[in-house]
Amino acid sequence: MTHARVEIAPSILASNFAKLGDEVRMVEQAGAEVLHVDVMDGHFVPNISLGIPVVAALRKATKLPLDVHLMIENPELFIEEFIQAGANRVLVHQEATVHLDRALAMIREYGAEAGAVINPATPVAMLSDVMSKVDTVLVMSVNPGFGGQKFIPNAYEKIRQLAAMRARYNVSFRIEVDGGVDLENIAELARAGVNTFVAGTSIFHASDPAAATRQLKQLATQALSQKA
Ligand code: DX5
Ligand code: ZN
Repeated sequence: MTHARVEIAPSILASNFAKLGDEVRMVEQAGAEVLHVDVMDGHFVPNISLGIPVVAALRKATKLPLDVHLMIENPELFIEEFIQAGANRVLVHQEATVHLDRALAMIREYGAEAGAVINPATPVAMLSDVMSKVDTVLVMSVNPGFGGQKFIPNAYEKIRQLAAMRARYNVSFRIEVDGGVDLENIAELARAGVNTFVAGTSIFHASDPAAATRQLKQLATQALSQKA
């Protein structure tokens, strides 16, 4: 499987929920490839966000693939329902389940793409035994739970390690980064090996979110063409 080289994934957590349909159409028209949806349970992370009914509503409002980031304990209990509601990609935290292998297998069984997520304090090596069983590895560059936090730079080294592992083991998962991604760091992240860039604040709190989406995409694409 070969993946698109650069995908911008606006995180709706930073959008205006009272106008969610309009917000989504705006970033879709601006060229975003994916929509990132943050699900929080108040246990795995100290915040509560949205759940299955919102995913189902988004499914009707957009054609974009829904990238559902489960920040919930025991995610395997809800995988089937999120996929039935319209999730195309389901991402589960390594730290949130003692049965990561099973959770990833369930996601693929129910017909979605499987992603494994690691928090800032979790080393890449925790995923070495599931490398061939994931479509995406998501590196958190903030501690999950809130939008608008400062980027934690140890993500760069983890992304480089993942890119090296991907080449060494001849596997083809996407590398995704989430938290504090903006116009300042996106080029460096692209050079480190990221394919999918989640961006909340830097898109939805920009004075022109459509322009911000296009600029992020352009900077990432340009950084790669210079590298090549
Ligand atoms: C944080 C969420 C992120 C968040 C990113 O727990 O997983 O997806 O929305 O927001 P920004 O881009 O503002 O850091
Ligand atoms: Zn997220």
